[in-house]
Amino acid sequence: MIFGEHIICDFPDGSGHHLRALSLEQLSLPDGAACALIGPSGSGKSTLFHCLSGILRPTAGRLCVDGTDITALSEDELSAWRAVHVGYIFQQALLLPYLTVMENILLAADIAGKDRAAKRKEAEEWLRRLGLDGCGPRMPAHLSGGEKQRVGFIRAILTEPRLLLADEPTASLDAANSRLIMQCLLDYQKASGCTLLCATHDPAVQALFSMQIHLQKGEAAS
Ligand SMILES: Nc1ncnc2c1ncn2[C@@H]1O[C@H](COP(=O)(O)OP(=O)(O)OP(=O)(O)O)[C@@H](O)[C@H]1O
Ligand SMILES: [Mg+2]
Repeated sequence: MIFGEHIICDFPDGSGHHLRALSLEQLSLPDGAACALIGPSGSGKSTLFHCLSGILRPTAGRLCVDGTDITALSEDELSAWRAVHVGYIFQQALLLPYLTVMENILLAADIAGKDRAAKRKEAEEWLRRLGLDGCGPRMPAHLSGGEKQRVGFIRAILTEPRLLLADEPTASLDAANSRLIMQCLLDYQKASGCTLLCATHDPAVQALFSMQIHLQKGEAAS
């Protein structure tokens, strides 16, 4: 369950003022929900994800995830909490460039305290399922944007997170791979009962979610 109130996120705008990227009076999402996060470019979708994952501390406000007030945690507590509770499919994949695909996937599972041998097997199955057979030993720089995005998906779900944040997970994918990833994402959410928030511009992806949050200039819109 996600609950937030009076969440403000300001960034310096470079000219001595600030830019308000996020201003949410209330945010509430039941445990196990699958929800689309919709809004134009610059409306604050990624900023909200950064706050929900604890990568970014909001300028003001309170955010609780599964009963933990993450805005009250120290940096060390936040890192430990994030590794175990949050799976994050980043908008730009963000694979570590000096690790292979398999090492990238297993590092996240290691930090979350999962069994390495079991996760390696699962990762190999997922790579096959997502058309990335044999990609385990390859370096991220040698993958296409869409291939990296699929690896980011595997890395996120293998930690078995309670909160799965997918930031435009189909942005670099063709229609067929986009359908495949969304099917896998929704299947995983149903089977695991995790809470899924999926930011997207794609009407075909939006149509898969009956629950939707709309953002406009950082504020909730209907
Ligand atoms: N670190 C930062 N420093 C300054 N401004 C930032 C920073 N991060 C985001 N912003 C600004 O905050 C606003 C919201 O950005 P955000 O990345 O959350 O949008 P978005 O909805 O994810 O957009 P997109 O669909 O293009 O990914 C934008 O105006 C952006 O320029
Ligand atoms: Mg974004």
